[in-house]
Amino acid sequence: MEQKKSGGFSGSIGFVLAAAGSAVGVGNIWRFPYLAAKDGGGLFLLIYLALVLTFGFTLLTTDIALGRRTQQGALRAFSSIRPAWGFLGKLTFLVPALIMTYYTVIGGWVSKYMVDFIVGSGTAAAQDGYFTTFITSSVSPIVFTLLFLCVTALVVFGGVEKGVERFARLVMPGLLVMIVGIALFSLTLSHTDESGVTRTGLEGLAVYVIPSFEGLTFSRFLQILLDAMSQLFFSLSVSMGIMITYGSYVKRDVNLNRAVSQIELFDTGVAFLAGMMIIPAVFVFSGTEGMASGPSLMFISLPKVFAAMGGAGRIVGIVFFVMVAFAALTSCVSIMETLVANCMEIFSCSRRRVSLIIGVLSAVAAAVICLGYNALYFELKLPNGAVGQLLDVMDYISNSFLMPAISLLTCVFVGWVVGPQLIIEEMERTGDRFTRKKLYRFMIRYAAPIIMAVLFLQSTGLLSIFFH
Ligand code: PFF
Repeated sequence: MEQKKSGGFSGSIGFVLAAAGSAVGVGNIWRFPYLAAKDGGGLFLLIYLALVLTFGFTLLTTDIALGRRTQQGALRAFSSIRPAWGFLGKLTFLVPALIMTYYTVIGGWVSKYMVDFIVGSGTAAAQDGYFTTFITSSVSPIVFTLLFLCVTALVVFGGVEKGVERFARLVMPGLLVMIVGIALFSLTLSHTDESGVTRTGLEGLAVYVIPSFEGLTFSRFLQILLDAMSQLFFSLSVSMGIMITYGSYVKRDVNLNRAVSQIELFDTGVAFLAGMMIIPAVFVFSGTEGMASGPSLMFISLPKVFAAMGGAGRIVGIVFFVMVAFAALTSCVSIMETLVANCMEIFSCSRRRVSLIIGVLSAVAAAVICLGYNALYFELKLPNGAVGQLLDVMDYISNSFLMPAISLLTCVFVGWVVGPQLIIEEMERTGDRFTRKKLYRFMIRYAAPIIMAVLFLQSTGLLSIFFH
């Protein structure tokens, strides 16, 4: 259990930046703003913040402390404490394996838009049907996906300190500067449409942050709560073995209390800023209807907003897509790193060899996912009511099905089987006080398992069966 790893983060800052790099991704910049727009702006923000400080904190702490305590990746972390719980490690390992298949595809889409804006064809991206034509074409999405995957693999190939950490140190501060810059720029916008109505960025900000209780019913509140909850797990990269793996790379003298708070702050701050950058801009140019566009917000609505901005739109478009591409890369690196680290442990193979094998397997899987919009197109009704293609099926299995199940089992494992003391000791190893200890105990034993069970029932469609 105390066996030392050969690679690791150089210190607290390197770890926090790499973990924040994993957490901050397309989830923050794409999914969070459209959920906030759909779910009543400020109300969603309030609920999300409350969840980050309770559930997010509990699961993030658990993953990171488990990793550092056991010095193992997810596959072995659970079994090294209780051999009978080895199955949970295997289940956890499945999540990054599934996410890897489609995260690279989304990374490929972002890269395509980034290149479009750089070479000056950003206005083409604003045309109706551009996105659909692109993702349903047979070659282009695969080429961009493979390019994105190659960069990811190169970083992972470089190792923990020289690859993952160095890349995060380079990218994350720049990302923060870009996002603050565009968010402030968004607030200065103003536009008068054909009907003579003028809308400003500050009015858009009000739509974003002021809670709207209009038409709020209990079932709508529950829906917002569940949306916020599943967004939170995806966004913090918890319950998928990633933070366990990164936790195992953290030196024993790092104060985990502070690191956990910094990661929470970074991830939530970027999500909030992404909303502040996107919602006012979309509001100014397309009004409240534009904001309800859901997943198409980033690939369809935003290019139209950039086109409507005129000359400045091209520059903002470049900065925006470069930023999203970097955010997606650091997240994808964390997914691939987790797969590579775990496989290195099981097969006792070198990093280079495992990176190469996983890179090739991921390339094949990603190409199949791309074909899900083309040769392998189908429309499947998922248990949560959505209709999806291959990519959505992978997303559904990993995020809506496996993730709540794993969180639930992890809470039972830590809260009831081994006891929260195991985590608390790890949090206090450096002699620092675990400030949210009481909250942690309550959350891991009672609140988190109950809510995870509800989330699981809801996303599998079982909750509506019980209630009808
Ligand atoms: N947390 C990342 C985001 O918000 O985009 C996505 C992510 C990274 C999900 C790593 C899953 C994962 F394993």
